[in-house]
Amino acid sequence: MPVGPLIELRTERLLLRRPVAADLEPFALMCADPEVMRHIGLGRPIDRASAELGFATLLERWRQDAAGLFTAEEAATGAYLGFIGTAPVPAHSVEGGATEIGWRLRRAAWGQGYATEGARAVAADAADRLGLTRIVALIRPANDRSRAVAAKLGLEETGEGKGPRGETVVVYAGAP
Ligand SMILES: CC(C)(COP(=O)(O)OP(=O)(O)OC[C@H]1O[C@@H](n2cnc3c(N)ncnc32)[C@H](O)[C@@H]1OP(=O)(O)O)[C@@H](O)C(=O)NCCC(=O)NCCS
Repeated sequence: MPVGPLIELRTERLLLRRPVAADLEPFALMCADPEVMRHIGLGRPIDRASAELGFATLLERWRQDAAGLFTAEEAATGAYLGFIGTAPVPAHSVEGGATEIGWRLRRAAWGQGYATEGARAVAADAADRLGLTRIVALIRPANDRSRAVAAKLGLEETGEGKGPRGETVVVYAGAP
């Protein structure tokens, strides 16, 4: 189990909390959905072994940095919605070394403003607690929903580049 400080962010409808081992199951299910993964990386769902690896990396990052991808729950029910949080951009990608803000929700949770609501809280935490003055979002050009979230956060489109897997991404950047 992860150790370290309990870090939670609350919004009107969401609890954003440090991930725990029990989040692996719903995380893996979400990442196995082709619709969810359509505009991420190479656009393919993630198999169970890769999801386990990704989840372990996510937990490890929290252990090291006390920051990362928060598990997003519906506050009223405790239902798992997905994750919203920050991660370092790999060095070989456009914006390598910058801090990316990202979001991924179960399909059933889309279209209710949850990503924007949660991302606003994550951005405020990144500024206040982590002291960040700039964040980026790298988004596949066809991912209109995600681009709308970045724009609503006030991030500006600054150009295009190659993402971590060599895919073309639109770069959004600005103060958190
Ligand atoms: C991207 C994602 C997190 C958005 O979650 P969400 O909770 O639905 O987002 P919000 O409701 O806060 O905002 C979505 C915006 O997209 C708009 N939108 C909804 N359907 C849309 C569509 N078919 N085409 C374009 N825009 C659309 C909404 O209107 C909303 O903007 P608005 O509030 O200005 O109207 C969610 O769709 C998701 O998990 N997608 C798969 C994972 C992913 O691609 N993550 C991002 C990788 S960069």
